[in-house]
Amino acid sequence: MATSTYLLHNACYNPKPINGHNQNQTKQQEEEQEAFNQNLETIVATLPKNKGWRGLHIYNYKGFWVSPEVIKGILLISDHFRPQPTDIFLAAFMKCGTTWLKALMFATVNRHRYTSSDHPILRSGPHSLFPFLDTHIFLDYPVTNFDHLPAPRLFATHIAHSLLPVAMTSPETACRFVYVCRDPKDAIVSKWHFMRKLRSKELPPVSFDEAFELFCNGVSEYGPFWEHVLGYWKASQESPEKVLFLKYEDMKRDPAAEVRKLAAFMGRGFTAEEERGGVVDEIVKMCSFESLSNLEVNKGGGGGQKFTAKVVVENREFFRKGKVGDWENYLTEEMKDRIDAITGEKLKDSGLVLGATKL
Ligand code: A3P
Repeated sequence: MATSTYLLHNACYNPKPINGHNQNQTKQQEEEQEAFNQNLETIVATLPKNKGWRGLHIYNYKGFWVSPEVIKGILLISDHFRPQPTDIFLAAFMKCGTTWLKALMFATVNRHRYTSSDHPILRSGPHSLFPFLDTHIFLDYPVTNFDHLPAPRLFATHIAHSLLPVAMTSPETACRFVYVCRDPKDAIVSKWHFMRKLRSKELPPVSFDEAFELFCNGVSEYGPFWEHVLGYWKASQESPEKVLFLKYEDMKRDPAAEVRKLAAFMGRGFTAEEERGGVVDEIVKMCSFESLSNLEVNKGGGGGQKFTAKVVVENREFFRKGKVGDWENYLTEEMKDRIDAITGEKLKDSGLVLGATKL
């Protein structure tokens, strides 16, 4: 009994409460932090900027549009994060299936630790199951220590492949990536809904038409969408044992098949006994949109997920419709043709097809 309590506390990531200023900071640490922030401001001031969907502006950092907080995260990850060979990273462009995959990866890796009645997924929102590296790296000063997490450590990120340190992405390093992507037409609809909820009420709202125009020009947090997808796609082609590339649409069509792939990739393939015992179906069911979105903790009773000292998102915001093809309710025929043409052009010769799958 004592063992299961120990595991339970250690398997979940519970960021310590922070307020952005560690009260125990020494004078020297304060000065270092000040110098880091000044350096960040200098970098940001030199970057091309454009309209943000959540905040006022986003900045083009080495080819990708990100907020200053994410640039801070990228710098800290590069300087301080020490990947371990057993680490597994869930990577995705925003609104392409992070919440779902977080639950599935955690449930699959930890399936021997919990029963369905005491499962952390039932008690906490999927986003507190493991850290979101981009911003959780700076929840504690000077960087958050993730050493206490049990192997394999799981992390999520939206950062583009080319912006991550070589220590994480090089084919020679053993840590792995699971990438999930989605028809960009559904990604833009989902992202517009999500970002308008997070956008400060002091800023004028971004209309869907404006968001569409920005998205097509590559301008949205972590975008351009296509370059983001292609970075991980190419890595998956070069090193399939290092990067597993999944599509939201395939997962909706046959979740059990995708979960088997996921488990095998993570080195946790299901045994014949587990198959006979229906373990795959249990995981699929527990992590389904219907199950997760109906949990009290995800309906508004569970508080929020802390991304930064200032950004806290209610669990319920991660669940909207969970369908393929909702874009039909938002895009005109002309918009559909335009985005499909961009996708066709950007992905041509890559071997990747997106947006052609329909349930
Ligand atoms: P919609 O807005 O189209 O409904 P992310 O987790 O990357 O932020 O993506 C959010 C999208 O995934 C939302 O899409 C959300 O409803 C959907 N989603 C969340 N949990 C899901 C689940 N368990 N199964 C399928 N889709 C899910």
